[in-house]
Amino acid sequence: MTEIFASYAAFLCVLRGKAFNSVKALNREARKGCAKKPAQGNARGSRSFRFFGVSATMMGFVHNDWGRMANISFRVNGNERTVKVAPETPLLWVLRDTLQLTGTKFGCGAGLCGACTVHVEGASTRSCSTPVSQVAGKAVTTIEGLSANGQHPLQVAWIAEEVPQCGYCQSGQIMAAAALLAKTAHPSEDEITSFMAGNICRCGTYARIRKAIQRVANGGVAR
Ligand code: FES
Ligand code: FES
Repeated sequence: MTEIFASYAAFLCVLRGKAFNSVKALNREARKGCAKKPAQGNARGSRSFRFFGVSATMMGFVHNDWGRMANISFRVNGNERTVKVAPETPLLWVLRDTLQLTGTKFGCGAGLCGACTVHVEGASTRSCSTPVSQVAGKAVTTIEGLSANGQHPLQVAWIAEEVPQCGYCQSGQIMAAAALLAKTAHPSEDEITSFMAGNICRCGTYARIRKAIQRVANGGVAR
């Protein structure tokens, strides 16, 4: 009975986006009551209100959920964009809601799962916990901009290795892998595991992710 309760509580913990290294650790945390809450301000489920389908932002209101709005400019996938949002608005919300780039996913909203990974100036970055003001004047790359036609070597390898299961975490996984390979062209298995450790896959596709990264490091050939 205790085990059933622990498993159920553990499942709830996973839903809340907490990262665990093993089922044992997960059950241990579950027994403690899954205490850690997501960081305040980054896990809000709702955005600016809508009136007959038109958002407050579109109507030119001066506030959104994160405060008074201002114009912020940055480069997204090679294009200069200026958005009118509160500077504290998480980059993820700006990408998905304002710029309609929905390839980047919301997972935990607290910097724990990696589903929202994008590149800022080439570095792997959690867009859910990055205020948009921090990317002003910088270059942001999302999964939509990783390659012109979905033919980035990682995307090709992902298909060859049949990596995705439900697919939800995969754009974040690919963006993290791309940042790794840009830094280290031929990472060891340990380097891959350690770099990718922050990107959680609830379907457990880790072995195939590793193989796909190794395939690219190997010049497109399976190991
Ligand atoms: S949504 Fe989980 S780290 Fe950003
Ligand atoms: S493929 Fe389903 S969460 Fe990763």
